[in-house]
This record gives sequence, C-alpha cells and structure tokens, in this order.
Amino acid sequence: MTSPSAATAAVHELTHPLIQHKLTLMREKDRSTSGFRRLLHEIGMLMAYELTRDMPTQPVSVQTPLETMTGVTIDGKKTVLVPILRAGLGLVDGMLEVVPGARVGHIGLYRDPKTLAAVEYYFKMPDHMEERDAIVLDPMLATGHSAAAAVAKLKERAKPRSIRLACLLAAPEGIAHLHGAHPDVALYTCAIDRCLNDHGYILPGLGDAGDRIFGTK
Ligand code: URA
Repeated sequence: MTSPSAATAAVHELTHPLIQHKLTLMREKDRSTSGFRRLLHEIGMLMAYELTRDMPTQPVSVQTPLETMTGVTIDGKKTVLVPILRAGLGLVDGMLEVVPGARVGHIGLYRDPKTLAAVEYYFKMPDHMEERDAIVLDPMLATGHSAAAAVAKLKERAKPRSIRLACLLAAPEGIAHLHGAHPDVALYTCAIDRCLNDHGYILPGLGDAGDRIFGTK
C-alpha cells in the first residue's frame, strides 16, 4: 500500500461555537440519557450543514410574488447516511432533519475475539450507490479499526461516488489508522482528543457513546 499523503487526507475540525458548546455538555458524566441524545441530535444537524457545504446544486427557475428568478436546489437523495451500528444511529435523525431526502444504509461489524478482524453481520445499502455520496457515521473514532473496515466494505460492495466520515470525537491514533488505509476519505470531527487509554477509550472523551445514547449502562 502506498503511504498516505497529507495533502489527500483531509481532516475538518468543526470548531463552530454552537457545536463546541453542545459537545462540552455531552462530555459531562452526569448528563442524562435523554439530554445526551438530544444534544447529539442537535450536533447532527449542525454537522450536516458542514458536511454538505460543497454539495452539487442545480439551477431552477422560481416564481416569487414579484418576478421570476433563477434559484438553486440540491438533490438530497444523492446523499446516503451510513451509520455504523450501533452508536452511529445517534447522528442519523439530526442529519435527516437537514437533508430529509437522504437515504440511509447500515453497516454492522463486530470484532472476532480470536483474529481481531472486523466481521460484517449486517450490510444494507440503497441501489445505485455509484451515483451517491456516502457519509459514514461513527461518533467515536478511537482505534479507527471499525471505521476503516466499514469504509473498506463500502468500497468493495457498494462503490459510492464519494465517502466521508463523520465523528464527534477522534483520537490521533484513529485518524492515523483511517488515513493510512483510506487517504481519500475526508474526516469531519467535532474535536481531536488527546489519546486512547489501555482499554481503547478516547481521553478525555465522553465514555461509551452507544451506552450513553441508548441508556444501556
Ligand atoms: N467507543 C466509545 O464509545 N467511546 C470511546 O471512548 C472509544 C470507543
């Protein structure tokens, strides 16, 4: 494999104060499940705004109450949100509020305890992915192994027109792994945290995103 080029491996850190404020609230250990979920929903809406900044537009004629002009529209269904189960689901609804026509594909992966390889247990995408732009949703880019494996499956089995990865928090180790494997995939993250601990959790982080979204702990 060729080594990744810094020029092709884009990292967009979403430093908007609204996103940073909501993220800070989400990090608080005593934030309730409903509060955590609502903040993630709101961040999903704000992230969608950044993720779709260079979306193609088509000129259309529009009749205002006063005259006719040329406006633009997007083709939302060309966007496919691809949550990695299960934590990725937490970002879907907020993004769909902003791009209601987007399609949603799902990827489920687990780590084989013996080989440590990522094993797919669920994969369902819309048709004609070659005409669509995929946004893979993985709130916590920790080691980056699941995200890189999900992107590899997407490339092999669906071949979307483009792939972006959206996460809430990224660890430097995860960014290096993702871009080592997929230098063509632009990463959008709300923050780059310090490092991983011995259990693979992001520090300072916010804990287990799936458990906090679904209230399973
Ligand atoms: N997954 C999580 O949910 N949290 C982490 O800190 C790392 C991986």
